[in-house]
Amino acid sequence: MEAYIEISYLVASLSFVFGLKMMGHPDSARKGNLLAAVGMFLAILLTVFLYQKNGHGLHNYAWIFTAIVIGTVLGAVSAKKVDMKAMPQMVSLFNGMGGACAAVISVVEFTYNEGLKTGSLMSTTALVILLGTIIGSISFSGSMIAFGKLQGYKAIEKPVTFPGQFFVNNLFLLASIVLGVMVMMKSNQAEASMLFYALFGTALLYGILFVLPIGGADMPVVISLLNSFTGMAAAFAGFLYGNKVMLTGGILVGSAGTILTVVMCKAMNRSLANVIFGGFGTASGEAAAGGAGGVYKEISPSDAAMLLKYSSKVVIVPGYGLAVAQAQHAIHEMDKLLEAEGVEVKYAIHPVAGRMPGHMNVLLAEADVPYPKLCEMDDINPDFPSTDVVIVVGANDVVNPAAKRDKSSPIYGMPILEAEEAKNIIVLKRGRGAGYAGIENELFFNDKTKMLFGNAKDTITQLVSEIKSV
Ligand code: TAP
Repeated sequence: MEAYIEISYLVASLSFVFGLKMMGHPDSARKGNLLAAVGMFLAILLTVFLYQKNGHGLHNYAWIFTAIVIGTVLGAVSAKKVDMKAMPQMVSLFNGMGGACAAVISVVEFTYNEGLKTGSLMSTTALVILLGTIIGSISFSGSMIAFGKLQGYKAIEKPVTFPGQFFVNNLFLLASIVLGVMVMMKSNQAEASMLFYALFGTALLYGILFVLPIGGADMPVVISLLNSFTGMAAAFAGFLYGNKVMLTGGILVGSAGTILTVVMCKAMNRSLANVIFGGFGTASGEAAAGGAGGVYKEISPSDAAMLLKYSSKVVIVPGYGLAVAQAQHAIHEMDKLLEAEGVEVKYAIHPVAGRMPGHMNVLLAEADVPYPKLCEMDDINPDFPSTDVVIVVGANDVVNPAAKRDKSSPIYGMPILEAEEAKNIIVLKRGRGAGYAGIENELFFNDKTKMLFGNAKDTITQLVSEIKSV
C-alpha cells in the first residue's frame, strides 16, 4: 500500500511540475492548468482514502466530502463569473484561503500532535508548526486586506498610514518571533498554549498592518509576495504530515511566487522595499509636471484612419487604458481591417503593462488575437524605427522616455517600449490623466505625436468605421 501511495504522489507531483511548465505558453496553458488540477484531485483522493498517520486512517468522510463539494462549487462558480478586471482580487482571495488552511493545519497540529504533547517543544516539529502558523497567518490576513483594497473598500482603498507605522508594524513581527522562541523554551505544551495563541494573533495583525500602507496599484506585487508566503506555509504543512505531494506543491507555489515578485519589481525598476514602503502607485487625476510639458497636437479620427490605412507597418502598444475601456475586441477588429488592406500589424507587450502579470496577453487572448502577433519588449524594440505608425492605446508609463533620460523620475531605469522611435505616433487616451507613476509623459508632446482623445473603445470604433469608409 505504501508503495502505491508513494508512486501516486510522485505522479501527482509530476503533474504539478509539467502543468506549470505548460502554463508558460498560451497555447498549452489551458491543458497545463487541467493537468495540474487532475494531479491535485488525485492527491486529495489518495490522502482521503489511503493516508495513514500513526496507524490511523482518515474517517469523517461525510464532513470531508461536504467541504470538498462546497469548496469546488464556490470556486468553480466564482472563477467562471469573475470579471476580467476583478481577477487580481480573486487571486488574492484564493491565496488568502491557502494561507488560512496552512495556518489552521499548524494550529491543529500544535494542539493535537502526539509528539508535542509528551516531548520537548525544542524540536524540529515545533519549529515547523510555529513557522507555518506565522507565515500562513500573515498570508491570510494580508491577502484579505489586499482583496479589500482592490475591491475598492473606501476605508482601506488608499494607503493607510500613521506616524511611527514602520516601528509599530515591525514590533508585531518581532513579537511573533519572540513569542515563537518563548513557546519553544517551555517544557510542555499546556504551558506553551497561551503564548502560541498570542503568536497566532500577532501574526494575523502583522499581516493586516503590513498591507494597509501599500498603494492599491502595487497590490499585484504584494499578492505575488503573499502567494510565495502561502507556498512556504503549505510546504511546512507538507513537512509536518510527511506528505510529499503537499511539500512539492508548496515549494512550487513558494518559488513561483518569489520569482514573479522579483520579475515584476525588476520590470518596474523598483526594489521590493520601495514597493512595500514607497507609497508609489497612489497617484490619481492629472499628471504631475515632471520636466515634460507643452501643447498637445490632436488628430481627427478620419486623418488617423488615413494614416493607418496607408502605412505598411503598424505597431499597437496596449496599456492599462485598454483594459479600462474594454477595447480589446475593437482593437482586434481594427487590426484585422488593416491586415486586409495589406498593413503588417503587431502588438508590443511590456511586461508590466496594465495592472497584473500578463494583463495584456489575457485581454488580447480574450479577443482571439493570434498569439504570434504579440511581441515581447526586447523583440519589438528594434522594430520601432522602421514602423510607420505606433498606436498607443491607454498606455503611458511603459512608453515614457523619462525612464531613459530623467534621473529624477520615479520610473528612471525602467525598461520601456521605444515608441518614440517610430515615424508617427498616435496616442489614444481620454485627457491629461496620469499613468500609474503619476508623472507627465514627454512622448505626448513629441513632434511626431498626435493625440486622439476619448474613451479608447469609442475612438477605436470610430477609427474602424473611418478605415472602412476611406
Ligand atoms: P498607465 O501608466 O497606468 O497609464 C494608463 C493610461 O491609460 C492613463 O494615462 C490614462 O489616461 C489612460 N486611460 C485610462 N482609461 C482609459 C480609457 N478608458 N480610454 C483611454 N485611455 C484610458 O498604464 P501602462 O502604460 O500600462 O503602465 C502600467 C503601469 O502600472 C506601470 O507603471 C507599471 O509599473 C504599473 N504596474 C503594473 C503591474 C503589472 S504586474 N502589470 C503591477 C503594478 C503596477 P487618461 O486618464 O487621460 O485616459
